[in-house]
Amino acid sequence: MTQDELKQAVAQAALRQIPQDQIIGVGTGSTVNFFIDALATIKHKVRGAVSSSERSTERLKAHGIAVLDLNDVDRIPVYVDGADEIDASGAMIKGGGGALTREKIIAEAADRFVCIVDASKLVSTLGKFPLPVEVVPMARELVARRLRALGGDPRLRKDYLTDNGNIILDVHGLTISRPRELETSINQIPGVVTVGLFAHRGADVALVGTPGGVQEHA
Ligand code: 5RP
Repeated sequence: MTQDELKQAVAQAALRQIPQDQIIGVGTGSTVNFFIDALATIKHKVRGAVSSSERSTERLKAHGIAVLDLNDVDRIPVYVDGADEIDASGAMIKGGGGALTREKIIAEAADRFVCIVDASKLVSTLGKFPLPVEVVPMARELVARRLRALGGDPRLRKDYLTDNGNIILDVHGLTISRPRELETSINQIPGVVTVGLFAHRGADVALVGTPGGVQEHA
């Protein structure tokens, strides 16, 4: 199976996690794009979606799925999103697609985080994938220095601004043995908007696409 076929399979499997007549939180990325396409086939069963990026909003709307403002929504029973890496505890690196801030906000607002990934994303220790950090532009060098002091090698994502008008530093060279502690430390640096470590609020369940079928890790 190709990687896209594995992504498609987990996206389809995620439909079984969707409650009827509710607002669904929707992440960002190529795996989520498959999920949005799958969601469109049951769109009459959901009230609408809260979206984590302009890209996902556009795709949801193109399918005729209502997109709601988070401020107008009381409850999001399920948030479905991909990840760049996920470990056995459900801690993740996210933000490869640059939508980490809105993703973290919706993940926090949701009762349950369903992570959909192909098997290549499952790791024993996070950090091989460069850790994205969204930063207010004027704090770029300050934050980069602090990230170097934490042992990382931050590199500016070229020609890229987030949906919130900020830059991203991709931090290479980290071996993240304590994801919660590192998430807390990076969050403390003034100028950091969001770190793409999702450890304090990790996934509740991971649907992992393998050639042998979709595995559920809870
Ligand atoms: C976007 C993300 C994505 O979930 C992550 O990058 C995985 O993307 P893909 O499904 O394309 O591999 O965090 O900000």
